[in-house]
Amino acid sequence: MGKEKELNIKLKVWRQRGPQEKGNFESYTLEGISTESSFLEMLDVLNEQLVKEKKEPVVFDHDCREGICGMCSLYINGHPHGKDTEVTTCQLHMRRFNDGDEITIEPWRSAAFPVIRDLMVDRGAFDKIMQAGGYTSVNTGGIPDANAIPIPKPVADEAMDAASCIGCGACVAACKNGSAMLFVSAKVSQLALLPQGKVEAAKRVKAMIAKMDELGFGNCTNTRACEAECPKGVSISNIARLNREYIKAKLKD
Ligand code: SF4
Ligand code: FES
Repeated sequence: MGKEKELNIKLKVWRQRGPQEKGNFESYTLEGISTESSFLEMLDVLNEQLVKEKKEPVVFDHDCREGICGMCSLYINGHPHGKDTEVTTCQLHMRRFNDGDEITIEPWRSAAFPVIRDLMVDRGAFDKIMQAGGYTSVNTGGIPDANAIPIPKPVADEAMDAASCIGCGACVAACKNGSAMLFVSAKVSQLALLPQGKVEAAKRVKAMIAKMDELGFGNCTNTRACEAECPKGVSISNIARLNREYIKAKLKD
């Protein structure tokens, strides 16, 4: 473990008073930030400083601060969740930065995720896609019944990997087309791979893709930016599965 140090940093933060307002970057200087603090704790220090100066604190989303909820949607120095791989903003630590660094912080930029205020965006579009079919409505029985259905380990592992998607939206923010295919493919795969999810698989994939298109997300052109920036390492092999599931469902029609 490295020794705790203190950093003096400059921040360029996107400030926007509301969805219809024009935003702009504002610069701030922070002194004595511990390398042991997390990125969000550093923003807490900024907000305490702004409140003391009787200025409006910066609005940003967060909840679990443990890499689970997917709320901490910040674009840091040109990367969703910063440039480290498989790390959420809340798990990013200030030891990854150097004394004197200037850090640029922006909200997700995607037509489907409008800015609410400052760094907070509305990711309700993901909820609408989930409401369109990201669930099972058949009776899967109690725990002993579920255990009675043998599922090969590699299949269970693939389903679990897909289920690790936390719905953060980094894949959309990273994609030049604003595509939600990685998210949708993870949500379709986690169910389509398992017997309980197969019952409604055809209906689900059609409904979720239709909703994704309706909400204005772009198409996938295989740039793999989504996979590179996903904090949970969700693989684009899920997108191939999504396409297969969709073709199968359409052929059934
Ligand atoms: S696929 Fe990855 S980047 Fe996209 S929403 Fe899920 S966890 Fe976030
Ligand atoms: S605050 Fe929950 S994943 Fe970052």
